[in-house]
Amino acid sequence: MQRTHALNVAQDVESLFHPYTPLDKVRETGPLVMTRGDGIYVEDDQGRRYLEAVSGLWCTSLGFSEQRLMDAAQQQFRQLPYYQLFGGRANEPSIALSHALIEKTRHLGMAMAMFANSGSEANDQAVKMVWYYFNAIGKPHKKKLIARERAYHGVTVMAASLTGLAGNHADFDLPIGDRVLRTASPSYYHYGRPGETEAQFVDRIVGELEALILREGADTIAAFFAEPVQGAGGVIVPAAGYWEKVQALLRRHDILLVADEVITGFGRTGEWFGCDTYGIQPDLMTVAKALSSSYLPISATLVSARVYEGLTQGSRRNGQFAHGVTYAGHPVCAAVALETLRIYEERDIVGHVRRVAPHFQRRLRGMEQHPMVHASRGVGLIGAIELVQDKATGRTFEAGSPILARVVSAGFEVGLICRALRDTLAVSPPLIITEPQIDELFDKMGQSLDLALADARAAGLMP
Ligand SMILES: Cc1ncc(COP(=O)(O)O)c(C=O)c1O
Repeated sequence: MQRTHALNVAQDVESLFHPYTPLDKVRETGPLVMTRGDGIYVEDDQGRRYLEAVSGLWCTSLGFSEQRLMDAAQQQFRQLPYYQLFGGRANEPSIALSHALIEKTRHLGMAMAMFANSGSEANDQAVKMVWYYFNAIGKPHKKKLIARERAYHGVTVMAASLTGLAGNHADFDLPIGDRVLRTASPSYYHYGRPGETEAQFVDRIVGELEALILREGADTIAAFFAEPVQGAGGVIVPAAGYWEKVQALLRRHDILLVADEVITGFGRTGEWFGCDTYGIQPDLMTVAKALSSSYLPISATLVSARVYEGLTQGSRRNGQFAHGVTYAGHPVCAAVALETLRIYEERDIVGHVRRVAPHFQRRLRGMEQHPMVHASRGVGLIGAIELVQDKATGRTFEAGSPILARVVSAGFEVGLICRALRDTLAVSPPLIITEPQIDELFDKMGQSLDLALADARAAGLMP
């Protein structure tokens, strides 16, 4: 479909209700309309080309032009464009995909996979499974869920309730109910106290978690939800030793661990899963995004044999497991996801991430030289820098400062798409990125920071 930029803007402003967008401003600025993809690059409706350094929403792992995924979709469309999984029915791609997913996660303790369409839904159904499980095994008092500050688990009513970001709660009347308990984010950078070592920080926040569990009563707590590396909350790489101590604590108190691998799954951290990188043995896992390189929507909630056995007991009692969405295991989405996993294997994408990640992390650390950058952090092919007004003290810009938005808009000018999260600038490029492209990414990031710095100086905000 060939449309003009002017027509796109006119119709967008009239009719397209944009998610996660300032609704008033977008009507003045108009949308940024992408029309084409080519490897790690995208092109807009005015012919401008951008290096997509966040893979869309941390998700297009194989870039924007993988022919094999398009072919896999077409072939499945021709053969069987839809069939459902309710009532024991199935379609071949979803069977093959669940098998492949369990093969990949068996060492993490996963045994069965239920599909959905988005990360939010996968987490939502994980919550329902956790409650159903404890009811089925005769522990109906275990209801509360622990989630962390800065967590991002999605936007459905329950996933947004687990999310630990104020912006996702304000005016949505969330969190819902009183079943979500909040605990600390493992960010030593943000929350370490003066003079406190990283190890002391971990002991303190794990101690606070234990105190919370004891105060509430372990027999009332069902599960702990967590991303191995927090993404939308600011790319929080957990403090060293955190996961080991948290898991020991949860095990002691019979609290299930739900690992939200929606961003970290499938190579992002340099291992197949964030759980591999941090030695996490979860009871449930949620995956989405890179599962299909996001060419089509599909997600899954994976459960251990122990949890599945409990759910089966409940199903026996109730006549069935009365949960599932129309598009769960959609054959075309599943066929594309299956082909994605085949490509990861055949091209050794995880090995590629391990090979290029040191260069990526080196260039990321190099950004700390810039007058507006106070710190950097990352793992594998995910990273972030902290933008500050005063480099010496680490003082940040005022909330909503135009300089923060300027860093992103300057990126557009130089052909780079990054993601701003409060004072954090995040990057998470397609996993197929090469070393020269990593250089291009960080060269462009430097140019956009320079443009923003010039504006900050012109406004008298920085020396
Ligand atoms: C860790 C994590 N969980 C869940 C979600 C929600 O996924 P979706 O937007 O597909 O509902 C996201 C989205 O960014 C995420 O980063």
